[in-house]
Amino acid sequence: MGRDGLKDLIRTVPDFPSPGIQFRDITTLLADAEGLAASVDMLAELASDLRVDKVAGVEARGFIFGTALAIRLGKGFVPLRKANKLPVECIGEDYALEYGEARLELDPSIITADENVLLVDDLLATGGTALAGARLLRRAGAMVSHALFVIELPELGGAQALADAGLEAKALLQ
Ligand code: PRP
Ligand code: ADE
Repeated sequence: MGRDGLKDLIRTVPDFPSPGIQFRDITTLLADAEGLAASVDMLAELASDLRVDKVAGVEARGFIFGTALAIRLGKGFVPLRKANKLPVECIGEDYALEYGEARLELDPSIITADENVLLVDDLLATGGTALAGARLLRRAGAMVSHALFVIELPELGGAQALADAGLEAKALLQ
């Protein structure tokens, strides 16, 4: 399956979760065996020339692709969790995304100083989420230079916001 086939598996839901938002829903992609496998294959291809010690994913949808990619690359997975989920002392970052505000938290003890962490999420919109994730990982001592996404919404400027913070974004679909 190519990138066009992948795009056809994504469902667009207008006005969710708030009026004016075109929600790009990956549920239909995840449920398709060929599409799911192809998306992980393509992410692995994008990661093939990168130095990766661990893969980090953003709760919740980033956990799906991030974990699959970590297994494919033979690396460990770092969960960037939404607020108040971790049972240990953690560090946190508040941020704004396309349709609201949230907080990500990380247990910094699972990061080894100077290791290369590849950030993964399903979708890049404003970049607020990915930037918060990168800030957290860097505060914990990681080097974060690349972020991979299944979908990028280019009109929201996320890739430029990430580039301004020293983070190169690559996506399978726009
Ligand atoms: C969605 C998506 C990204 C983020 C992108 O997550 O999975 O993490 O928004 O938006 P941004 O680039 O404007 O920051 P959401 O917070 O809706 O959480 P979910 O994965 O739990 O659905
Ligand atoms: N996260 C931020 N913006 C989004 C959108 N338009 N569709 C799905 N997830 C999103």
